[in-house]
Amino acid sequence: MTYLTPATGTALDPATLDRAITDALSSVRRNIATFGTQFPDDTTTDDRYLLRPAGQGFALGANRGWTTTFWTGLRWLAWELSGDDRFREAARVDTADFSRRVRAGEDLYTHDLGFLYSLTTVAAWRLDGDSDARDAGVLAADHLMRRFLEPAGIIQAWGDLQDPKQRGRTIIDSLMNMPLLTWATEQTGDGRYADAVRRHTVQLHDHILRDDDSTFHTFYWNAETGEALRGGTEQGAGDESCWARGQAWGLYGFAMNFRATGDPRLLDAARRCADYFVSRLPADRVPFWDLVFTDGADAPRDSSSGAIAVCGLFTLAEVETDPERAAWAVDTARAILGSLIANYTPEHPEDSDALLLHGVYDLPKSVGVDEGSLWGDYFYLEALTRASRPNWRGYW
Ligand code: GLY
Repeated sequence: MTYLTPATGTALDPATLDRAITDALSSVRRNIATFGTQFPDDTTTDDRYLLRPAGQGFALGANRGWTTTFWTGLRWLAWELSGDDRFREAARVDTADFSRRVRAGEDLYTHDLGFLYSLTTVAAWRLDGDSDARDAGVLAADHLMRRFLEPAGIIQAWGDLQDPKQRGRTIIDSLMNMPLLTWATEQTGDGRYADAVRRHTVQLHDHILRDDDSTFHTFYWNAETGEALRGGTEQGAGDESCWARGQAWGLYGFAMNFRATGDPRLLDAARRCADYFVSRLPADRVPFWDLVFTDGADAPRDSSSGAIAVCGLFTLAEVETDPERAAWAVDTARAILGSLIANYTPEHPEDSDALLLHGVYDLPKSVGVDEGSLWGDYFYLEALTRASRPNWRGYW
């Protein structure tokens, strides 16, 4: 374990945390006034959110793609942090649109149904007891189960199940989609969802995690025989490099799935992802977009990976069986979060409508480089929530 102390001037004292939460809530409030019931694009453009583009039969600002969930999740978090019912009302309106989306069968051919329905309908069920949202969440889990491939025992990430380029491929991000299935078994008593979680997560433990504790972004199986084939990347610097956000998804995802399954291999995987991630952090504690880069590199940071890792470390601390490691995880999470607050948030409200600056979506494709993002904002506010409320229940 690499021990991290806060970088100079970034200690997380209670006043700093309070101010960061106040600033974040002001941003969410302003964005509700600006966007109403429409959804912005995945990332900012020059630090401003634009409406989600029209296309493929969808209107400007429509609910499509994998990131709209974070917009709604921000509103649920803001309501929990403030008690201001205007946030809850906005979250309810969004959630109703997610229920409509799954019933209408719109843009569901993705494993990201877990992201899409955990922070919307599952949150609405947990916080509001909304039974219509609960039913829509179970329906989303049923759609996700259609992507489970026998005999490989994995959930295919992207695209049509018959597409030869995508068939048998999963990605490390998928770990974050498993909690929807865990929840579906809790709700329905049907063990098929939880069985899929157990099989998929063990396959990722066995193949996507490398011997040096770094991870592949994506991995292919032969969907007919179940044979594990090869790793590769989609958004990282190279097939053998370690994409920062993938490692953060691994840290958070393995920790959550250990809590769900009790499989000790997943705790071991979460620890290994955490150790590698932390060992590759530069002096200011916020990663470059790929962990192949370290101090002195001329490469952009991905602040969103830092925020996801903070949430993952707090979760790891909750599920740890070793008290020394749990204390390490909390201290490390606080050191990263302190730097995000000090160095990666807008200085003035007019500077940006993102909560968190300097993220990267997909550098190889030049998409969303050095911008804010919906998921960066969401995990930053989740991180602030976890830091200020250690007993917070979470939506996942
Ligand atoms: N799950 C897609 C991404 O992290 O960019």
